[in-house]
Amino acid sequence: MTEETATLRVGDKEYSLPIVVGTEDEVGIDITALRQQSGCITLDPAFGNTGSCKSAITFIDGEKGILRYRGIPIQQLAEKSRFIEVAYLLIWGELPTQAQMSRFSEMLTDEALLHESLKHHFEGFPNTSPPMAMLSAMINAISCYHPDVLPCETDAQFEEAVAHIVSKVRTVAAFSYKMSRGEPFIYPDPRRKYVNNLLYMMFTVPHHAYDASPEIERAMNLILLLHADHEQNCSTSTVRMVGSSQANLFASIASGVCALWGPLHGGANQAVIEMLEEIRRGKMDIATCIKLAKDKESGFRLMGFGHRVYRNFDPRAKILRKACDDVLTYLKRSDPLLDIARSLEDAALKDSYFVDRKLYPNVDFYSGIIMRAIGIPVNMFPVMFAIGRLPGWIAHWREQRCTPGARIARPRQIYTGPCQRDFVPMDER
Ligand code: ACO
Repeated sequence: MTEETATLRVGDKEYSLPIVVGTEDEVGIDITALRQQSGCITLDPAFGNTGSCKSAITFIDGEKGILRYRGIPIQQLAEKSRFIEVAYLLIWGELPTQAQMSRFSEMLTDEALLHESLKHHFEGFPNTSPPMAMLSAMINAISCYHPDVLPCETDAQFEEAVAHIVSKVRTVAAFSYKMSRGEPFIYPDPRRKYVNNLLYMMFTVPHHAYDASPEIERAMNLILLLHADHEQNCSTSTVRMVGSSQANLFASIASGVCALWGPLHGGANQAVIEMLEEIRRGKMDIATCIKLAKDKESGFRLMGFGHRVYRNFDPRAKILRKACDDVLTYLKRSDPLLDIARSLEDAALKDSYFVDRKLYPNVDFYSGIIMRAIGIPVNMFPVMFAIGRLPGWIAHWREQRCTPGARIARPRQIYTGPCQRDFVPMDER
């Protein structure tokens, strides 16, 4: 490898491949022309070594445990900002001025209501439906009522579409919670800020308006902003992939929700609480849990541990570990699950299996304990994650759309099935 190119030898032929260096000195070998030049493709199942795009949104250094949105360290945003400001930063690339922030907030307020007919869509779901299923379906349903914002061809159309989706997804989330409880829907209150309004719509019941305290509102803001983007993770890559076919923003985001639903991704926070509950109920102890996680035959993983990118503490987990204490102290409550989580973390971090593989707590390890304290049930955890991840999905969808010469994403494969053979009629098989 020279400074500008890498050399690849296949048989007796050599190919020169350009080297691309990012602003944080990350190095990639550009293989765009490889197949054309050599007839070969690269094979990288699960994309652990594949850069699918250049992106200016989020930087992660997994070895050092660094996470920055548009260059700003996550610790600073966690301390000084709130979810909607971070959403603006991710989507438009800069922190908003006061005027820009006010305009964005007003647009979100204006778009909070769902079309009344959408209530009938909710009524079509059994109230045992997983909220993630409702969320994904409803995002596509919303788009049917707003065909005017779908093209997203101008900045103004995009801004409108962003306001619709960011605001209405919150309303859908609250309504799906109400569905699962058999309680009446509570309409958004235009006097409330984004996160306060979310909690208000979820927890208000007739004759008793829920008013989140600043401490609870801050904790929820923190959870949402810490989830707001994480570069090319499974759901974001899904949004980019679907968007590459020029599918509209709503369809692309709905597919991101489905990708997020899986227990290895956005479903992990739910799985963490279920695992901690099993320990609390005495169905397994910490030693058994660690033993099972190390046993590949068991199919069991220590949920909330490990990450494809971080080989160090997930910086978001560090922030949330402390926030757990703050919330529980504020509520004057203790949660046995927090004690179990800490003991489990200590045991894992002393065990050579986890140490050697650099497996540390990820963002999901502590977020569920905070949401439980706020009163959010586990089946709503992935929905909260989806609300948080929306700005990231939108920013990536837009970035990809605006990339000159962007093509439809279409990986290749190495075929391993049978070679050509003849069709056998049914009576001869
Ligand atoms: N428990 C036990 N072993 C684990 C765990 C875990 N949680 N995570 C990884 N390992 C092991 C793997 O089995 C592998 O062992 P090996 O080298 O002996 O084969 C080794 O550690 C390396 O792990 P990978 O397989 O490279 O991890 P990968 O990058 O494929 O997966 C993932 C990352 C999915 C997050 C994984 O760590 C995991 O399943 N964690 C639990 C689920 C979870 O918490 N998901 C949330 C992720 S964060 C998010 O989406 C917001």
